[in-house]
Amino acid sequence: MTDFSRSIIVTGGAGFIGSHLVRRLVKNYPGYRIINVDKLTYAGNLENLKDIESAPNYLFERLDICDHEKIAELMRRYSVTGIIHLAAESHVDRSIKDPFTFARTNVMGTLSLLQAARTVWEASPQGYAGKLFYHISTDEVYGSLGFDDTLFTEKTPYSPHSPYSASKASSDHFVRAFHDTYGMPVIVTNCSNNYGPYQFPEKLIPLFINNIRHNRPLPVYGEGLNVRDWLFVEDHAQAIDLIFHRGTPGETYNIGGFNEKRNIDLIRALIKVTDRLLGREEGASEKLITYVTDRKGHDLRYAIDARKLNRELGWKPSLEFEEGLERTVKWYLENQEWMDRITSGEYERYYDDMYANR
Ligand code: NAD
Ligand code: DAU
Repeated sequence: MTDFSRSIIVTGGAGFIGSHLVRRLVKNYPGYRIINVDKLTYAGNLENLKDIESAPNYLFERLDICDHEKIAELMRRYSVTGIIHLAAESHVDRSIKDPFTFARTNVMGTLSLLQAARTVWEASPQGYAGKLFYHISTDEVYGSLGFDDTLFTEKTPYSPHSPYSASKASSDHFVRAFHDTYGMPVIVTNCSNNYGPYQFPEKLIPLFINNIRHNRPLPVYGEGLNVRDWLFVEDHAQAIDLIFHRGTPGETYNIGGFNEKRNIDLIRALIKVTDRLLGREEGASEKLITYVTDRKGHDLRYAIDARKLNRELGWKPSLEFEEGLERTVKWYLENQEWMDRITSGEYERYYDDMYANR
């Protein structure tokens, strides 16, 4: 059996950002055992990790993060010294319809994971030495900015508005409470909107690419004037890798793209690229834009100040937005089977069959 220098759990590794992070860690750290813990909700998709699933340093465990006992057992079995926690319910619109699920997974799930880590690490001979609980959070916990306000810094007070951001804010507080109360080494990072391959097509960019392809309406909430700060997902994964290895326990780091866009401007740019790659006249699909009722409590603007991360660890995004958008649209158009399976219902049946009788 191969000896690994350390074992790390990544929760939510079958999701959008998690799959990019797992792929990166599996490839870049052959000496680590990377354990992907995922419940495989509607948003988890093992197809996202097909290219690395048989790597000798990769393990998948289908587990609910709320199952404290099983997580603790897994941590003991592999002497886990690091947890990078991404598992969550992540879609704001779903949280408006079903806030309980968000409280269960994002708040209770995070607390269960913290408790499991505490139980196992406090009982180990080295205690918390060499251990790290790294929690992945969002810029949405800071609330909403006006057009003329300055950016969110790590010191901006929390002011969540949606059930999603309230649940993430609560989980962040629990993580910091475990640091302050029990001395657990923790890091929290708050990132802006990610985009790129493997994102579930309920989120703006993949939803719109798929709708353009099928000539379906593009539902723009309100007037399309809300502003988001967009970061290519591989740049987020690179930042997480850097912070996991070189960040200071107890600290918070903001991660962002320095790339604010009004929704309507982003949508027009997306239409142009998608039309061109589909061989249509650029802008032809603008006729699909359909203004619809606004999201309830829709935050006007998010914008991250990521200068601390740049100053302390030298990180900055590697891709220009235009290049990232081009790569993203190309990927979805070249991977239409991935998209079609998810949107056809075949995807749910695949998991039902795969995990029946387990
Ligand atoms: P996602 O919805 O694509 O994936 C979430 C993953 O978590 C899925 O694989 C799902 O199966 C798994 N999961 C859900 N509940 C679980 C449970 N109870 N037990 C185990 N696994 C469970 O999410 P994402 O967009 O990749 O986001 C990942 C993390 O990053 C989240 O914590 C989110 O809040 C945060 N974040 C996301 C963005 C973004 O733009 N997507 C930006 C900043 C922060
Ligand atoms: O800021 C980080 C957050 O970014 C993450 O924490 C969340 O997990 C992630 O989902 C994302 O949240 P948003 O709500 O900003 O992303 P979404 O893709 O749902 O929407 C982006 C913007 O586009 C938002 O202002 C709402 C708008 N929108 C969205 C959809 C799905 C539309 O106008 N029409 C749509 O159909």
